Amino acid sequence: MNTSKCTVITHPLVQHKLTIMRMQETPSSEFRRLLRETSMLLAYEVTRDLPLTMVDINTPITTMKAPVIDGKKITIVSILRAGNGILDGMLELIPSARVGHIGLYRDPETLTPVEYYFKMPPDISQRDIIVVDPMLATGNSAAAAISRIKSVSPLSIKFVCLIASPEGLSIFHQEHPDVHVFTAAIDEKLNDHGYIVPGLGDAGDRIYGTK
Ligand code: URA
Repeated sequence: MNTSKCTVITHPLVQHKLTIMRMQETPSSEFRRLLRETSMLLAYEVTRDLPLTMVDINTPITTMKAPVIDGKKITIVSILRAGNGILDGMLELIPSARVGHIGLYRDPETLTPVEYYFKMPPDISQRDIIVVDPMLATGNSAAAAISRIKSVSPLSIKFVCLIASPEGLSIFHQEHPDVHVFTAAIDEKLNDHGYIVPGLGDAGDRIYGTK
Protein backbone atom coordinates (compact mmCIF):
# COMPACT_ATOMS: atom_id res chain seq x y z
CA MET A 1 0.00 0.00 0.00
CA ASN A 2 1.36 3.43 -0.96
CA THR A 3 0.65 5.38 2.27
CA SER A 4 2.52 8.46 1.00
CA LYS A 5 -0.36 8.88 -1.44
CA CYS A 6 -3.03 8.54 1.23
CA THR A 7 -3.98 10.95 4.01
CA VAL A 8 -6.02 9.55 6.92
CA ILE A 9 -7.97 12.38 8.52
CA THR A 10 -7.66 11.67 12.22
CA HIS A 11 -9.43 14.79 13.50
CA PRO A 12 -11.49 13.83 16.60
CA LEU A 13 -14.72 15.28 15.14
CA VAL A 14 -14.32 13.17 11.99
CA GLN A 15 -13.54 10.03 13.98
CA HIS A 16 -16.47 10.56 16.37
CA LYS A 17 -18.97 11.13 13.57
CA LEU A 18 -17.64 8.14 11.63
CA THR A 19 -18.14 5.89 14.65
CA ILE A 20 -21.81 6.90 14.89
CA MET A 21 -22.23 6.32 11.14
CA ARG A 22 -20.77 2.82 11.54
CA MET A 23 -23.37 1.85 14.19
CA GLN A 24 -26.09 -0.31 12.63
CA GLU A 25 -28.80 1.34 14.74
CA THR A 26 -28.07 4.82 13.33
CA PRO A 27 -31.09 5.75 11.16
CA SER A 28 -30.76 7.16 7.63
CA SER A 29 -31.79 10.68 8.67
CA GLU A 30 -28.99 10.79 11.24
CA PHE A 31 -26.54 9.04 8.88
CA ARG A 32 -27.15 11.68 6.17
CA ARG A 33 -26.68 14.54 8.63
CA LEU A 34 -23.42 13.07 9.96
CA LEU A 35 -22.15 12.37 6.44
CA ARG A 36 -22.87 15.96 5.41
CA GLU A 37 -21.03 17.31 8.47
CA THR A 38 -18.10 14.92 8.00
CA SER A 39 -17.89 15.84 4.32
CA MET A 40 -17.42 19.49 5.26
CA LEU A 41 -14.48 18.48 7.46
CA LEU A 42 -13.05 16.31 4.66
CA ALA A 43 -13.45 19.26 2.26
CA TYR A 44 -11.48 21.41 4.70
CA GLU A 45 -8.56 18.94 4.58
CA VAL A 46 -8.60 18.27 0.83
CA THR A 47 -8.51 22.01 0.04
CA ARG A 48 -5.69 22.73 2.50
CA ASP A 49 -3.18 23.37 -0.32
CA LEU A 50 -5.28 25.82 -2.34
CA PRO A 51 -3.10 28.78 -3.29
CA LEU A 52 -3.90 32.22 -1.87
CA THR A 53 -3.40 35.65 -3.36
CA MET A 54 -3.46 39.03 -1.62
CA VAL A 55 -6.12 41.61 -2.45
CA ASP A 56 -6.64 45.18 -1.22
CA ILE A 57 -9.76 45.57 0.96
CA ASN A 58 -11.30 48.19 3.20
CA THR A 59 -12.29 47.16 6.71
CA PRO A 60 -14.52 49.59 8.69
CA ILE A 61 -11.28 50.79 10.33
CA THR A 62 -8.62 50.90 7.61
CA THR A 63 -7.30 49.37 4.40
CA MET A 64 -5.34 46.14 4.31
CA LYS A 65 -4.03 43.43 2.05
CA ALA A 66 -5.91 40.20 2.80
CA PRO A 67 -5.75 36.65 1.40
CA VAL A 68 -8.34 35.13 -0.93
CA ILE A 69 -8.27 31.85 -2.86
CA ASP A 70 -6.35 32.37 -6.09
CA GLY A 71 -8.91 31.70 -8.80
CA LYS A 72 -8.86 27.90 -8.59
CA LYS A 73 -11.68 26.27 -10.47
CA ILE A 74 -12.83 23.25 -8.49
CA THR A 75 -15.13 20.53 -9.73
CA ILE A 76 -16.51 17.90 -7.39
CA VAL A 77 -17.28 14.64 -9.19
CA SER A 78 -19.70 12.29 -7.46
CA ILE A 79 -19.56 8.57 -8.21
CA LEU A 80 -23.25 7.62 -8.24
CA ARG A 81 -25.12 7.04 -6.14
CA ALA A 82 -23.43 7.08 -2.73
CA GLY A 83 -21.04 9.87 -3.76
CA ASN A 84 -23.97 12.27 -3.60
CA GLY A 85 -23.97 11.88 0.19
CA ILE A 86 -20.49 13.47 0.32
CA LEU A 87 -21.22 15.97 -2.45
CA ASP A 88 -23.88 17.84 -0.44
CA GLY A 89 -21.58 18.65 2.49
CA MET A 90 -18.66 19.58 0.23
CA LEU A 91 -20.84 22.02 -1.73
CA GLU A 92 -21.78 23.79 1.49
CA LEU A 93 -18.10 24.53 2.11
CA ILE A 94 -17.15 25.16 -1.54
CA PRO A 95 -20.36 26.71 -2.97
CA SER A 96 -18.65 27.96 -6.14
CA ALA A 97 -17.59 24.43 -7.16
CA ARG A 98 -19.06 22.93 -10.31
CA VAL A 99 -20.36 19.37 -10.15
CA GLY A 100 -19.84 16.32 -12.37
CA HIS A 101 -21.43 12.88 -12.06
CA ILE A 102 -20.25 9.48 -13.16
CA GLY A 103 -22.32 6.30 -12.96
CA LEU A 104 -20.83 2.82 -13.28
CA TYR A 105 -22.28 -0.64 -12.74
CA ARG A 106 -20.53 -3.99 -12.59
CA ASP A 107 -21.24 -6.27 -15.55
CA PRO A 108 -22.44 -9.53 -13.94
CA GLU A 109 -20.69 -11.64 -16.64
CA THR A 110 -17.32 -9.94 -16.96
CA LEU A 111 -17.34 -8.26 -13.49
CA THR A 112 -15.83 -5.16 -15.14
CA PRO A 113 -17.26 -1.67 -14.51
CA VAL A 114 -19.55 -0.36 -17.28
CA GLU A 115 -20.31 3.37 -17.58
CA TYR A 116 -24.00 4.38 -17.72
CA TYR A 117 -23.72 8.11 -17.00
CA PHE A 118 -21.01 10.74 -17.48
CA LYS A 119 -21.64 14.47 -17.26
CA MET A 120 -18.91 17.04 -16.58
CA PRO A 121 -18.74 20.86 -16.74
CA PRO A 122 -17.60 22.06 -20.20
CA ASP A 123 -14.27 23.67 -19.18
CA ILE A 124 -12.98 20.55 -17.45
CA SER A 125 -9.43 20.91 -18.81
CA GLN A 126 -9.05 24.06 -16.69
CA ARG A 127 -10.40 22.48 -13.51
CA ASP A 128 -9.04 20.71 -10.45
CA ILE A 129 -11.21 17.72 -9.61
CA ILE A 130 -12.19 16.18 -6.28
CA VAL A 131 -13.79 12.77 -6.85
CA VAL A 132 -16.05 11.58 -4.01
CA ASP A 133 -17.36 8.13 -3.05
CA PRO A 134 -17.84 7.05 0.59
CA MET A 135 -16.39 3.53 0.26
CA LEU A 136 -13.13 2.62 -1.52
CA ALA A 137 -13.83 -1.11 -1.41
CA THR A 138 -12.41 -3.28 -4.23
CA GLY A 139 -11.00 -0.14 -5.84
CA ASN A 140 -12.14 -1.31 -9.29
CA SER A 141 -14.98 1.15 -9.88
CA ALA A 142 -13.05 4.06 -8.34
CA ALA A 143 -10.06 3.27 -10.56
CA ALA A 144 -12.34 2.99 -13.63
CA ALA A 145 -14.01 6.30 -12.74
CA ILE A 146 -10.62 8.02 -12.45
CA SER A 147 -9.48 6.57 -15.82
CA ARG A 148 -12.62 7.96 -17.46
CA ILE A 149 -12.17 11.36 -15.80
CA LYS A 150 -8.52 11.44 -16.94
CA SER A 151 -9.77 10.96 -20.52
CA VAL A 152 -11.17 14.52 -20.41
CA SER A 153 -7.80 15.91 -19.16
CA PRO A 154 -8.52 17.89 -15.96
CA LEU A 155 -5.69 19.86 -14.33
CA SER A 156 -5.52 17.56 -11.29
CA ILE A 157 -7.50 14.86 -9.46
CA LYS A 158 -7.88 14.03 -5.76
CA PHE A 159 -10.06 11.24 -4.35
CA VAL A 160 -12.06 11.55 -1.12
CA CYS A 161 -13.77 8.70 0.71
CA LEU A 162 -14.95 7.89 4.22
CA ILE A 163 -13.52 4.38 4.55
CA ALA A 164 -10.94 2.60 2.41
CA SER A 165 -9.92 -1.06 2.40
CA PRO A 166 -6.19 -1.92 2.18
CA GLU A 167 -6.95 -4.02 -0.94
CA GLY A 168 -8.86 -1.17 -2.60
CA LEU A 169 -6.14 1.36 -1.88
CA SER A 170 -3.53 -0.95 -3.33
CA ILE A 171 -5.48 -1.59 -6.57
CA PHE A 172 -6.36 2.10 -6.86
CA HIS A 173 -2.75 3.23 -6.54
CA GLN A 174 -1.44 0.53 -8.90
CA GLU A 175 -3.58 2.16 -11.60
CA HIS A 176 -3.39 5.77 -10.41
CA PRO A 177 -0.22 6.42 -8.39
CA ASP A 178 -0.65 10.14 -9.16
CA VAL A 179 -4.02 10.49 -7.37
CA HIS A 180 -3.89 11.35 -3.67
CA VAL A 181 -6.57 9.65 -1.52
CA PHE A 182 -8.09 11.36 1.53
CA THR A 183 -10.00 9.05 3.89
CA ALA A 184 -11.29 9.04 7.47
CA ALA A 185 -10.24 5.40 8.01
CA ILE A 186 -8.43 2.44 6.48
CA ASP A 187 -10.31 -0.62 7.72
CA GLU A 188 -9.14 -4.20 8.19
CA LYS A 189 -10.13 -5.95 4.97
CA LEU A 190 -12.74 -6.77 2.32
CA ASN A 191 -15.07 -9.72 2.82
CA ASP A 192 -16.02 -12.28 0.12
CA HIS A 193 -18.92 -10.07 -1.00
CA GLY A 194 -16.72 -7.03 -1.54
CA TYR A 195 -17.88 -5.26 1.64
CA ILE A 196 -15.42 -3.42 3.85
CA VAL A 197 -14.90 -5.03 7.30
CA PRO A 198 -15.81 -3.67 9.82
CA GLY A 199 -17.06 -0.85 7.55
CA LEU A 200 -20.55 0.60 7.82
CA GLY A 201 -22.51 -1.62 5.43
CA ASP A 202 -23.79 -0.41 2.06
CA ALA A 203 -23.28 3.36 2.07
CA GLY A 204 -26.02 3.98 -0.54
CA ASP A 205 -28.54 1.99 1.50
CA ARG A 206 -27.48 3.73 4.71
CA ILE A 207 -27.87 7.19 3.10
CA TYR A 208 -31.17 6.57 1.31
CA GLY A 209 -32.79 3.95 3.56
CA THR A 210 -33.12 1.47 0.69
CA LYS A 211 -32.60 -1.66 2.78
N1 URA B 1 -19.79 -0.33 -0.98
C1 URA B 1 -20.40 -0.02 0.19
O1 URA B 1 -21.33 0.77 0.22
N2 URA B 1 -19.96 -0.63 1.32
C2 URA B 1 -18.94 -1.49 1.31
O2 URA B 1 -18.58 -2.00 2.38
C3 URA B 1 -18.34 -1.80 0.08
C4 URA B 1 -18.77 -1.20 -1.05
